[in-house]
Amino acid sequence: QTGYITIDAGYKNTGATKSAITFLDGEEGVLNYRGYSIEELAEKSSFLEVAYLLIYGELPTQEQFSAFEHEITTHTLVNEDMRKIFEGFPVNAHPMGVLSSLVSAMSAFYPETLDLDSPETTELHIIRLLSKLPTIATWSYKKSQGHPVNYPKNSLDYCSNFLSMMFSLPVAEYKVDPVVSAALNKLLILHADHEQNCSTSTVRLVGSSQANIYSSISSGISALWGPLHGGANQEVIEMLEAIKNDGGDVQKYVDMAKDKSSGFRLFGFGHRVYKNFDPRAKIIKKAADDVLNKLGINDPVLEIAQKLEKAALEDPYFVSRKLYPNVDFYSGIIYRALGIPTNMFTVMFAIGRLPGWIAQWKEMRANKEPIGRPRQVYVGAPRRDYVAISER
Ligand code: SDX
Repeated sequence: QTGYITIDAGYKNTGATKSAITFLDGEEGVLNYRGYSIEELAEKSSFLEVAYLLIYGELPTQEQFSAFEHEITTHTLVNEDMRKIFEGFPVNAHPMGVLSSLVSAMSAFYPETLDLDSPETTELHIIRLLSKLPTIATWSYKKSQGHPVNYPKNSLDYCSNFLSMMFSLPVAEYKVDPVVSAALNKLLILHADHEQNCSTSTVRLVGSSQANIYSSISSGISALWGPLHGGANQEVIEMLEAIKNDGGDVQKYVDMAKDKSSGFRLFGFGHRVYKNFDPRAKIIKKAADDVLNKLGINDPVLEIAQKLEKAALEDPYFVSRKLYPNVDFYSGIIYRALGIPTNMFTVMFAIGRLPGWIAQWKEMRANKEPIGRPRQVYVGAPRRDYVAISER
């Protein structure tokens, strides 16, 4: 009976769906959103415009973009009762745990027709997620600083609003530096979608049972939190800091990563699909240099990262396994330069990936894909009779 089932652990060679959203070629290091290259989009577009492109399939006209941006801007406020849920979290709660909980709680605040086949309400839920995620995301940081949360401002664009909510104080308005806002736009664009990665597959699987969009996105945030996935960007900086504090001996850590018994991996290295360079890492590495120079920041961790990359790329263990820096290797260095704390890095990844998750969820629903339910090969005990506890 199990003869016809083949196991593909981690779905390394299994296609789960057909999608028209993102194309990536692991051999050539190509990544396109709806046919446009990330190199062009990172240079010429904005994160909100890329969100529109991913979700609706085309670059917006000026009129379409203005209407979309107005919708987003006028939904950035969060129901005050959501703050009561937030107040219950301890000050040291990890921002990813807070974010996934509050996004799931949104299903209780916006229950009107979570039935997925009413396009208008689905659109409204999509606008609410895009507009409120940044607002919610900043709460954890403000609480960790003992500062009051900030309300969004309708006068600011998407990235500037996030930065202002993060860093403004009642006593001093944060002045958004265009260099910082441009760097954030670029980073969010580069994280916006990545075909069927772990968290996106999670969003599709949860959505395939016709669970509502808030529950589906909350599941994606949970999957992204893992250190092998989006959580790697926090691990990378903690690893680089450890190397710096340990005298900067990168070779010692490269050697440790080659010794399987150490259980240590070089975070920010390797990728299931990219067996050459990760095109996002190339752009982010260059951007890290630019942003730090423009902001006049000399971060010793950047130098450690460059030394570590060089040591690994000259080591046969990594070269033979085609392990190159991935999107998470340099991104944390830019987040640090923008003043974002390490435990918020994966939240930044979630803000960036949200339009991709939404686009993929919408596509799965529009294509009326069947509920996901993989099979297994049973390797447990054969059938046996119950034994009374007195006889065990
Ligand atoms: C993201 O899928 C996506 O698209 C994800 C993502 C996205 O945009 O959504 O790109 C974002 O998650 C990027 C990856 C972030 N994770 C990390 O940086 C964590 C460190 N990297 C890995 O753990 C690993 O490389 C993965 C998880 C990224 C990929 O894992 P695979 O494809 O299952 O590869 P594997 O674990 O089977 O490794 C193959 C070999 C193994 O050695 P051998 O058994 O062949 O001897 O390479 C080794 C591994 O031990 N290896 C590493 C390594 N990564 C793989 N050895 C040391 N350090 C590493 N980082």
